[in-house]
Order: sequence, then C-alpha cells, then structure tokens
Amino acid sequence: MDFRQQEQEFNRKIDPQKLPYHVAIIMDGNGRWALEKGLPRQEGHRQGVETVRETVRCGSELGLGILTLFAFSTENWQRPAWEVNYLMGLPEKYFKSELPELIRNNVRVNLIGDGARLPAKVRKAIKDGAEATKNNTGMLLNFALNYGSRSEILMAVNNLLDDAAAGKIKGAIDEKVFSGYLYTADMPDPDLLIRTSGEKRISNFLLWQLAYSELWFTNDYWPDFSRIHLMEAVYDYQLRKRRFGKV
Ligand code: IPE
Ligand code: IPE
Ligand code: MG
Repeated sequence: MDFRQQEQEFNRKIDPQKLPYHVAIIMDGNGRWALEKGLPRQEGHRQGVETVRETVRCGSELGLGILTLFAFSTENWQRPAWEVNYLMGLPEKYFKSELPELIRNNVRVNLIGDGARLPAKVRKAIKDGAEATKNNTGMLLNFALNYGSRSEILMAVNNLLDDAAAGKIKGAIDEKVFSGYLYTADMPDPDLLIRTSGEKRISNFLLWQLAYSELWFTNDYWPDFSRIHLMEAVYDYQLRKRRFGKV
C-alpha cells in the first residue's frame, strides 16, 4: 500500500466521534536522524520543523481539540550553545512561514512553559502568533517551550502560597483548583501521548496531566513521523478501553 492508500484506509477506519480531544507529542530523535545520515544535528531539527507543519495540518484536519508539542525542555539548556541557539531560531522561522495557514485553518496558538526565560525573539514570535490567532475557534496548538513539569508544579505551588497569604483561598486545595494553577489551566488532560524515537520515558513532560493518558510509542525519529503515524496512533487509541481505575 502506498502512502495515499494508507491515508485513505485510516480515514475510513478512524471514528470521528471517538477522537482523542487532546493529543500531546514528545518530538524526539532529530539529532539521531541527522547523525545516522551523516548530517549535522541542526539538519534534524530543520527537518523536524517540516514534520511539525505536517502534523499540525493533519491534527487540525482530523479535528483534534488540542495538540501539545514538546519543543524545548527546561533541561535542554544543557545542550551545547550552538544547538540551543539554532533551536531558538526555529519558532520565528516557523511562524513566518506558517502563520497565514494557521489563521486560515482556524488554529489558535499558545505557549506553555516559562516564557520569561526565553530569548526576546522567541517570546515575540509566540506572542505575535498567539495574538494573530486568538479569535480562532479550531484546534488549540500548544508549544511547550522552556517547559518542565516539575518547575510548572512548583510555580503552581508558589502561586497558591501567594494567593493563600492574600486570603484568596478558602480551605483545602482540590485537584480541580490545583490544575487551574498549571500552564494547562482550563484544558482537559491529554487523552493520548505520543513519543517518537524509541525512548520510553516522560522526560519531565506534563507529569500531573498525563496521569491517565494513553501512551503510544514509535521507534521512528521525529523527522520521519508522518500523518500516517498520527493516524495510526489515533486509531490505536480508539481500540483501547480506558478504565480510570473502574472495571
Ligand atoms: C528532539 O530531538 C528535539 C529536542 C529535544 C529539542 P533531539 O534533539 O532530542 O534528538 P536526539 O534525541 O538527540 O536524537
Ligand atoms: C524531550 O526530549 C524534550 C523534547 C522533546 C523537547 P529529550 O531528548 O530532551 O529527552 P531525553 O534527554 O532523551 O530524556
Ligand atoms: Mg532526544
């Protein structure tokens, strides 16, 4: 079966009534993809941006409610400066070429992560993207940039302490109130988490929010991820029985 036929097959098999509302992706393996081809790691990241374009397009065509992409972690600052610099140039490039299509496709852009520590050009690219798409009502596209789940949880705790000291909190904190202090406030938790490149770990991504997410892994590197992978993951999700601790 060629690519086109596989796509048609999944379009037939996927039940539009049972889509995962929120899909989160750990986009991993750009570096290895490049190195295995004898290319510098940047080439993997460059190709990875192409995969982001196609994945956003496909997610929005499928009718996902939220797509959350892990693009840069709080731990990724420990990479060599040249690689961090290269990665920090990508949001600007991405929005320059994609914003018109995002607007056309009714996609709304949002940042999750500690924006304050990002270079000004990255903050501006995301802010302009969010501003230009703020009235869109289709898929919400979260970019997790300078995102770390432990630091997110601590931010929530510290803001809760401030609000408690200011007398804004009455009584004990429940899960709903706590969730409201996270970057993902008001968003339902991911139904499906995808990780590429064969690694089977969470790497400090959405620790609270992934409590009951379905997990899907592929050995393929992120630059080789295609709409067929996304559709396969969604179809696999639809075959699962989510129990949430019940029988
Ligand atoms: C994912 O690819 C992109 C980021 C984490 C920024 P990697 O750069 O982690 O690629 P590998 O895992 O080294 O192959
Ligand atoms: C996770 O990938 C972070 C992103 C995809 C942005 P890493 O490549 O940083 O994760 P580890 O270091 O292999 O756990
Ligand atoms: Mg990696």
